[in-house]
This record gives sequence, C-alpha cells and structure tokens, in this order.
Amino acid sequence: METLTVHPARPLLGTIEVPGDKSISHRAIMLGALSQGTTSISGCLDAEDCRATQAAFTTLGIPVQWTADRVVIDGRGQLGLTAPTQPIDCGNSGTTMRLLLGVLAGQPFRATLTGDASLSKRPMKRVTQVLRRMGARIEGQDDGNLAPLTIQGGALKGITYELPVPSAQVKSAILLAGLYVQDGVTVVKELVLTRDHTERMLLAMGLGDHLSILGDPLDGRTVTLRGGTALQGRQFRIPGDPSSAAFWLVAAALVRESSVTVRDVGLNPTRTGFLQVLQGMGAKVTVRPAPDDGWEPRGDVTVEWAPLHGTTIRRSLLPQLIDELPILMAAAAAAEGRTVIEEASELRVKETDRIESMRTNLMTLGVRVVVEGHTVIIEGPARLRGATVSSFGDHRTAMAAAIAGLAADGP
Ligand code: S3P
Repeated sequence: METLTVHPARPLLGTIEVPGDKSISHRAIMLGALSQGTTSISGCLDAEDCRATQAAFTTLGIPVQWTADRVVIDGRGQLGLTAPTQPIDCGNSGTTMRLLLGVLAGQPFRATLTGDASLSKRPMKRVTQVLRRMGARIEGQDDGNLAPLTIQGGALKGITYELPVPSAQVKSAILLAGLYVQDGVTVVKELVLTRDHTERMLLAMGLGDHLSILGDPLDGRTVTLRGGTALQGRQFRIPGDPSSAAFWLVAAALVRESSVTVRDVGLNPTRTGFLQVLQGMGAKVTVRPAPDDGWEPRGDVTVEWAPLHGTTIRRSLLPQLIDELPILMAAAAAAEGRTVIEEASELRVKETDRIESMRTNLMTLGVRVVVEGHTVIIEGPARLRGATVSSFGDHRTAMAAAIAGLAADGP
C-alpha cells in the first residue's frame, strides 16, 4: 500500500491545465471505433480507465493507436467489430462496462465483460434490464446485475424509457444500443439532466438528422434516436476535465489568499454544477468561455479565496456535480455553518461508497459529519487537523482528502 503525505499549503497562486475529460475520452474512443473513417483525438485522458476502453476495442478487433499526443482510430463502422476470443476486462471503469454493454447489445456475437473487485460489486442491472427489453440476452450474477456479465447481442427493437435513476451511463448505453435499432426509434426521457456528452458527440459525428433533443433544461429532456445511420470519423480536441479541475479550484477556495486558474477546461453546463455551488458558498469564481465551436463548451476558470459559508445542495442538482461531491464535502468542512447534501444515494455505488469514505475521512480530520439515510450534513467550520486517512481504493476520495490536507494544521 502506498502512503502519500500532504503538507499544509501556503497560498496557491497560478495557472494550470488538467488532463482531458474522462467521460468524453471514453466516448471518443468508442464512437471512433464504431464510425467510418478516421477519428483523431487530442487531449484524450491517458489513465487506466480509458486504457481499459482502448483494450476493449483492441479485443473487439479495432486497433486504437495511442501516441504521446493523440489517439487515432480507423473505424470500420458499427458492425465492424469482431467476436472477442477472450473476456473483456473493464478494470475499474464503470463507464467502460456500462457503455460497452450498449454497443455489444447490437453485435451478432457473444462477449463476456469482467472488472476488478470494486467494479464487480457495482450495479449493472440499471443497464442490463433495459438492454434486455431491447432484445439483448444477458447473463450474470444476481439476474444480470453483477459482473462478470455475458451478453449475446442481436436484432434490437426501439423502446421508450424514462430513467429511474439519473445516470448518464445508463442513458448512453441505451443510446449506443439505439444506433443498432432497425425496428422503431429509441426514446430516453430524463427528468433530471445528466451529462450529455454522448448526444453531443453523436451530433458531431453526423447524426443530426437522426437525433433530436427536446425539452426545457430545467424540466427534463427527451432524446430520440433513429438508428441505422453511419457515424463519420472526425477530429476531436478534448477539453480539460472539470471533475479534475474541481480539486484545484476548491483548493483555491480552501487555502487563504489563493487564486488558481484552470485553463481550457470543459464548461458543459451538465458538468459545472460545482461552480454554482462554490459561488453560492461565497467563493469568487470567474468563468471565461472560449468561442463556441458547436461541440463541447470550454474555457478558463479562476477561483479566488474568500470566506465560505454552508449551503444546501438539492437532489435535482446532484447529477451535475456527482463526481465533485467528495471535494465539495471538503469545502463544506471549511465553511461557516451547515451544509446539507440531499439524498445522494448514487454516491454509495461509485468506485467506493463515497458517503462512508468521506464521512470516515472528514471525521478523522476533525469535521462534524452526520449522515441521515443518504443525506449528508456537515457542520463547519472545522479546524482541520493533520491525520492519516484512507483512499478506500477510490481516486476521488484520495484527491478530496489530499486537498483537505492542504488546509489542515499539520501533515
Ligand atoms: C459518467 C457518469 C456518471 C459519473 C461517472 C462518469 C459518464 O456516472 O459519476 O464518473 O461518463 O457517463 P452515472 O451515470 O452512474 O451517474
């Protein structure tokens, strides 16, 4: 086991860039592999999760060339994949497993997906039950809920599905399966907005006449996809990951006299809920959007230290900051007064149970945390004390603890 020591920080001043967006990177590799022609991706996140997606497509017969500055894929169309001769290891990556299930639902062969110990405990039924309704045959423990999962794809029929849990991974898996539907259209309704990277990428790859997105950004959305059209390969320049930027921007909000700018980061409104919350807590947030290129919004963000106060994060906002909740809990610890995070049950099924991992770590650092059901209540401000905490094998828990450590009174 590796131990990292974080020391209390002096003011953090400067401009940084963060690695490319993880969600968009996965989708660019996947849709590139399913398209016709060449897809060239710069800024693709080089991390184990995206490497798992690369390896999956290599196993499915589509080489993904990954060099220092770009990822290049010569797609062979939606039915250009070949039957795997071994199980596909999705590692720790929920996005790889859930989205790939959508792709495999439309393939005329059988494939088995495996994952590491953490991924093998995460719920897959949310995806497999819908793909079964569309026509895929799926086997796995607990009635297709837990990996390893074996999927036999085939002819799919369109469905209309209202997401019972707000999950972009579920929505995306259905839309990817929807590419293969010959019989009918695929309609996904979401009452609470989730990240829309799949929809934006499908539009950018030529599906404009086949994909419609209707609705009020505040009142839910309906995505309708007509399958049977080829995706066109293209170039993508992936913006920095706002979920990675969030750690450094919260660090600036925590450490007195700090000012941190993150350059060229994704500003997709389905991802920037944490900036609204930070601003609502009193941090000074400045956003400078880059000119719109019609795909993913991006720009520079600066956060300057200011005294923080507690806030309430409502359930309807959670999907727009789901991965930022651990670091927002660290911000809440330093804020004056009470912060309430309402009904965050989805945090319990991430790489670890992030309600429990964060409660344990914050309490070890001297913070008052109460959990009522799936609601988290943090009473600030805490005087954070140096201590030893655990990552719980989860990158975002680790980063949230490390950033909290910058504002602690000792290592
Ligand atoms: C992701 C969606 C979110 C998020 C995950 C990445 C995606 O998960 O937590 O890190 O790429 O679609 P859910 O869809 O399960 O909420």
